[in-house]
Amino acid sequence: MSRKRSLPAAETLIWPITSAIEPIDLKKLFALQKPMELELGCGDGSFTLQYAMENPALNIVALERLLGRITKLNRKAHRAELKNLRLLRAEARYVLEYLLSPDSFEAVHVYFPDPWPKKRHHKNRLIGGLFPAIVKRLLRKDGVIYLRTDNIEYFEQMLEVFGAAKGFDSIETPESVKKIITDFERDFNSKGIPTRYAAYRSI
Ligand SMILES: C[S@@+](CC[C@H](N)C(=O)[O-])C[C@H]1O[C@@H](n2cnc3c(N)ncnc32)[C@H](O)[C@@H]1O
Repeated sequence: MSRKRSLPAAETLIWPITSAIEPIDLKKLFALQKPMELELGCGDGSFTLQYAMENPALNIVALERLLGRITKLNRKAHRAELKNLRLLRAEARYVLEYLLSPDSFEAVHVYFPDPWPKKRHHKNRLIGGLFPAIVKRLLRKDGVIYLRTDNIEYFEQMLEVFGAAKGFDSIETPESVKKIITDFERDFNSKGIPTRYAAYRSI
């Protein structure tokens, strides 16, 4: 059985989180400072890779908790020689609340977050009542949160929580973002399940 090796420390795009208390110094992640965007639950990076390649004027931070997926993305991004992408392997909730500084991002992308379909598991959903305030703290003025899901019931919850949240305007998802299809999205769409999009601008 062949095991894929991790990239050496000098080549990896995975940024080590060295403190559970001190916020990550985002300026240190990139050699060149540019407007930053964040993807949560990026999986093995079908969106983030393409988006980073198409938007060299942005710096992209992609977060994922599963080692196998982020390792695969790390190898692909390294092969593509991307300089504007850094990866965080972490649990999103903790990082969002405690390790990222306010007013850091022009956009946050969350695509096909785990739907936790059973009612007793709904409390585990990332996009719940507290999420808009958490994400608003991280967004710069006029920053945008982009959401996609295949799950109609979770989509309704997303609309409800952002509809009730203060300080957001609902906007259309631009075609330049929509046209990048994620792996999960391709799979759902091939089974006839459409993508539901929502986007909100922080005002
Ligand atoms: C259904 S997959 C979607 C992956 C990718 N966004 C796509 O559309 O192809 C959800 C991803 O989010 C990750 N994830 C779920 N909850 C997370 C959390 N709390 N923190 C970090 N990653 C999370 C999962 O490990 C998984 O890779």
